[in-house]
Amino acid sequence: MSARADVLWRVRRMRPRDVPAVVAIEHSAYDFPWSERIFRDCLRVGYRAWVVQHARAAIAGYALASIAVGEAHLLNLCVAEHARGQGAAACLLEAVIAQAERESAAELLLEVRPSNRAARRLYVRYGFETRGRRPNYYPCRDGREDALLLSKVIGH
Ligand SMILES: CC(C)(COP(=O)(O)OP(=O)(O)OC[C@H]1O[C@@H](n2cnc3c(N)ncnc32)[C@H](O)[C@@H]1OP(=O)(O)O)[C@@H](O)C(=O)NCCC(=O)NCCS
Repeated sequence: MSARADVLWRVRRMRPRDVPAVVAIEHSAYDFPWSERIFRDCLRVGYRAWVVQHARAAIAGYALASIAVGEAHLLNLCVAEHARGQGAAACLLEAVIAQAERESAAELLLEVRPSNRAARRLYVRYGFETRGRRPNYYPCRDGREDALLLSKVIGH
């Protein structure tokens, strides 16, 4: 558990029955959301996945990561709009970093849109550094948008 801004967040593993609530947040947050099928496939293949809640309230956000052969990759991190600015994403990211440490990953990688200021500030706060750019990585309303590739050394 972590406390910030008077909110006590609980992070726990995502279960298949959480997927409908997760998909609802996903669809409200992104122009090009993942489908329910993608979330179910992620759980099926064993990607690490978490949800964050305030006490027994509804799910407020989630994170998914793949961790294998010494490398962790943050695939999705999202908080419902009504729950933002209260430390929920920070709690999720701390859970991902802790799991990457436990699984002896040397590095945690992620992609982020250059236009996504909130997410970029979050990642900088947690010690991520820009490693490169992936051209035309994301769909956007008028075509494609590059991604910034960020990474954080784990265990230091
Ligand atoms: C990015 C996102 C996950 C942040 O979630 P959140 O729960 O509001 O973030 P937190 O309250 O934990 O904030 C942690 C830090 O993130 C940064 N941050 C979060 N929201 C911010 C905003 N609107 N503007 C600037 N920085 C912001 C800050 O550094 C903040 O720490 P600080 O308040 O001590 O400065 C959330 O805005 C979101 O879900 N956006 C849509 C999905 C998305 O873009 N996901 C990331 C894909 S790479």
